[in-house]
Amino acid sequence: MTTTNFGVTCESVEQTTAFSTSPPSALQRFGLIERPSLDYTPEVAEATAPIYEKVKHIIPAIEWPALAPTIHAINRLKKERNAVILAHNYMTPDIFHGVADIVGDSLQLAIEATHTDADVIVQCGVHFMAETSNILSPDKTVLIPDMKAGCSLAESITGADVRALRERNPGVPIITYVNTSADVKAECDICCTSSNALQVVESFGTDKVFLIPDKYLAANVGNKTDVEVLVSDGACEVHERFTAQELRDYRKIDPEVKIIAHPECPPEVVAEADFAGSTAHMIDWVKTKQPEKVMMITECSMADNVASETPGVDFIRPCNLCPHMKRITLGKILDSLVEMREEVVVDPSIAEKARIAVERMINLKS
Ligand code: 13P
Ligand code: SF4
Repeated sequence: MTTTNFGVTCESVEQTTAFSTSPPSALQRFGLIERPSLDYTPEVAEATAPIYEKVKHIIPAIEWPALAPTIHAINRLKKERNAVILAHNYMTPDIFHGVADIVGDSLQLAIEATHTDADVIVQCGVHFMAETSNILSPDKTVLIPDMKAGCSLAESITGADVRALRERNPGVPIITYVNTSADVKAECDICCTSSNALQVVESFGTDKVFLIPDKYLAANVGNKTDVEVLVSDGACEVHERFTAQELRDYRKIDPEVKIIAHPECPPEVVAEADFAGSTAHMIDWVKTKQPEKVMMITECSMADNVASETPGVDFIRPCNLCPHMKRITLGKILDSLVEMREEVVVDPSIAEKARIAVERMINLKS
């Protein structure tokens, strides 16, 4: 007998290793690629000049030589790896305008994951988004630049919690917000995002439904329908920090300002706003209405990203940072493409069930 390691003998560890056939990693499948040089050469300056035009309102010129080589390298590596970058609207402007191929809200990114013919998806967002891409495109390699990019909503509930909820409430449809793990989606009847939550709630034709896990989104949707929307106890740590008093104070200072809010905010905050909608709907609202002054009650990068496309609009910028979204940086995206990590793979038996919930949502006629 040899020494033990966490209760397992070294002999048995060797045996397990000898017989294990773990699948090849993404790096083994795709092969090594040389790490590109990150010098700010005249060629890099010229190639990235059109990108700088889009971010010059938010990134000082003095910072560009530090960012441009990484942006240039990522854009080159994307071609070599046949990769596409899906980036959420909360990504910083260097990512959003510099390297993303497709940007959008959770619904748009989920739909785009089904359309791309790239071999590799680099998900610039949080973990549940990468899982959703893998659920919808199991044949693609899905990478997330930082595996720790989580979400307070996704952390608030497990598949076992949903099973218990169903047992206690037989016959009541359970809708899961997309901000959940694959395990939770696998236990629910359908998925929704903040873009389509009301439509999904009303699609069952029942007098009550569960909408989990965001208690504020559920309450905001409940305020717009006759369906009784039952909630669980999750919240977005970014949006729940906004208060109605804060909004009233801004209006007192500047009665002309238009205030638009995300429906993950508490209902009393939404009630004070001129409009509430998903990140994509908020962007569309600003582009269509072109208000003189606007305040986006959501994550900080939204206003930074949309400002370059709406030069006539003055953005007043109170905001809260999402620490999870902010884990995704240019440097980590580059590492991701060079080293083909971190790969997100949902267990196929869970993915199969979760896919039903996500596809039901995508296939709902609008
Ligand atoms: P949407 O982009 O779908 O509005 O979601 C916001 C969000 O918080 C994503 O984590
Ligand atoms: Fe999750 Fe809120 Fe961050 Fe979105 S903003 S990822 S809901 S914690």
